Amino acid sequence: MWASFRNRLTQTPGQHPLFRDVYSAVTEERGALLYLVARAIQAKRVVEFGSSFGISTIYLATAVRDNIGAGSNANASVVGSEMEPEKCSAATNNLAAAGLSGIARILEGDALQTLAAVDAPVDLVFLDGRKDLYLPVLKLLTPKLRPGAVILADNIRSFEKQVASYVQYVQSGKNGFVSSTLKISDWMEFSVSERTEK
Ligand SMILES: C[S@@+](CC[C@H](N)C(=O)[O-])C[C@H]1O[C@@H](n2cnc3c(N)ncnc32)[C@H](O)[C@@H]1O
Repeated sequence: MWASFRNRLTQTPGQHPLFRDVYSAVTEERGALLYLVARAIQAKRVVEFGSSFGISTIYLATAVRDNIGAGSNANASVVGSEMEPEKCSAATNNLAAAGLSGIARILEGDALQTLAAVDAPVDLVFLDGRKDLYLPVLKLLTPKLRPGAVILADNIRSFEKQVASYVQYVQSGKNGFVSSTLKISDWMEFSVSERTEK
């Protein structure tokens, strides 16, 4: 029942209205993973697909803030994306309340358009929006990825069918990524860009 409902939701062009106010966010465990990976690779520029109320954005922006330390860094930023205007403004308010507005902002609208203009080099990408758009969003951002950039994609277990082409693409070894599914929480695909310096 839940599986067929979920399948219908991700096949519609937009998010179902029922989900407009739903507070779906990373668990503490997955938030910790985001924070730790961002710290480990010293991420300074992070892009997020699907920010909702900004909870994952807060984990990512906290890591970027901690990476740059007390000093400021003009290139440090977390760019989130959210298509629902109410969620976008709630996320923006949450970032302000967390004291992270100077580092993070949420772009309102379809990420396939709003994320097209993000600056390179991107150190870390978090994919958590519509599951069947993981691959198009990755392809959009690929030219901006720095060598060794990390791409984390959430909900690999719950949305197995919708993310199948994405997982196949990053794991094939033919598209410039090394990748493995981390079987924690709802499973996250952990991919690393094999791009080399030009
Ligand atoms: C699971 S929630 C994100 C949760 C958030 N990452 C967190 O952990 O706090 C997915 C969000 O992606 C948004 N979304 C889905 N497709 C999108 C698109 N094409 N562009 C921008 N946002 C999108 C939805 O509106 C929804 O709020």
